[in-house]
Amino acid sequence: MPSVEEREILTRVGPGTPVGTMMREYWIPAAMSSEFVADAPPVRLMLLGEKLVGFRNSAGVPGIMDQQCPHRCASLFFGRNEAGGLRCAYHGWKFEVDGTCIEMPNVPPHLAHPEKVRARAYPCVERNGLIWTYMGTRAVPPPLPAFETVLMPKAEMRIFFVQRSCNWLQALEGDIDTSHFGFLHAGLVAADDAPEGHTARFALANRAPEYHVADTDWGTMYAAYRDGDPGMTYWRFAHYLFPFWTMPPDGEFKKHVVARAWVPMDDTHTMFVHLSWTQNAQGMRSLRGGRPMIGASMGNTYLPNEPDWYGRWRLAANASNDYQIDRETQRSGSFSGIEGIHLQDQAMTESMGGIVDHDAEHLVVSDHMIARTRRRILLAARACSEANVTPPGVDHPEVFHGARSGDFMSSNSLGWLEAYGNEVRASANPAGVLRSAG
Ligand code: FES
Ligand SMILES: [Fe+2]
Repeated sequence: MPSVEEREILTRVGPGTPVGTMMREYWIPAAMSSEFVADAPPVRLMLLGEKLVGFRNSAGVPGIMDQQCPHRCASLFFGRNEAGGLRCAYHGWKFEVDGTCIEMPNVPPHLAHPEKVRARAYPCVERNGLIWTYMGTRAVPPPLPAFETVLMPKAEMRIFFVQRSCNWLQALEGDIDTSHFGFLHAGLVAADDAPEGHTARFALANRAPEYHVADTDWGTMYAAYRDGDPGMTYWRFAHYLFPFWTMPPDGEFKKHVVARAWVPMDDTHTMFVHLSWTQNAQGMRSLRGGRPMIGASMGNTYLPNEPDWYGRWRLAANASNDYQIDRETQRSGSFSGIEGIHLQDQAMTESMGGIVDHDAEHLVVSDHMIARTRRRILLAARACSEANVTPPGVDHPEVFHGARSGDFMSSNSLGWLEAYGNEVRASANPAGVLRSAG
């Protein structure tokens, strides 16, 4: 169990905090490309506890900068997105996307010195429908993380965002906590509901798997295992990847390319960013003869985006209406009575409170991956903030190529890492990455 000090380190993300410092070493998926429209008003963005504005100039180039104007700190959210830059509404100073001040029109021309002032701007790149930003201290940012979902053709990618009202770590831990699947999502689904030959029947027949857990070059990984067909083991592999990514296990391993970011907006709000391959094989949610499990729809119903700091990508079913829980459905249709796999996860992790109290937890052996991941994050964050040690994957983003998640069966004679390496090498490779796993 983390100490009070460790819990503080793990959950705080603002400037100068250990985890916040570590996260700023990486590129961060900040917004959907569609959110920044050329010459349209700026958008409020909350990232790692910092209030920022995002916009796109007339040439289509995205920019992200501190909301405070460097003159007298008025909010640039009220600025005018004009040809060639964002103009502050207060005294008319104008800034390019990189923060360069190009006009200071309230000062007599012979006394104006725009070249001496900069708005605090963060570098941005746009790739495959996402705008990424780098909030760290390097003059030359590191490469983008080489996730397969970042490298593959845009037409083959699925992307969506969902805001969650809780700390980033407890949100992320839902993705590395496989034993909840057999209850929260599939608690009323019987093994016999799985179509003939569907590996999910093993997970439904045994809802208390055993685990292998290990540190990896990219973070941590686990294999949940149970008996499969005679002489075979049924595996479900998943990963944590620095600094806030997961690859969850629900999908057929050979055709399952996914990366999910739990981007901290601040200490109690998180933006979930889902990236996956459109040709991924369906996981357990396609049970009951190919029809969806009751309550396991994958669509999300959104409220309209609004301009306030927490106004982006909110769901219509939320804490204010108890996630629209249907108690009758809970009795007979689905375990939770809450509609949608994502919403079920959202309800559970938000119900823990803004920042879960680690002192009140009772972690058991099925939480081994969570405990190990907390330890891995703590050590890396302390090393980064106290000894300036570059965290994993920042300068060698190809380490992320080794991670793949999903389920499969293999002979009992294979060790878990051997089985994993074989499966990775035999998997679809739509991004054409080089592999060395196993
Ligand atoms: S506060 Fe922005 S120009 Fe004065
Ligand atoms: Fe879940």
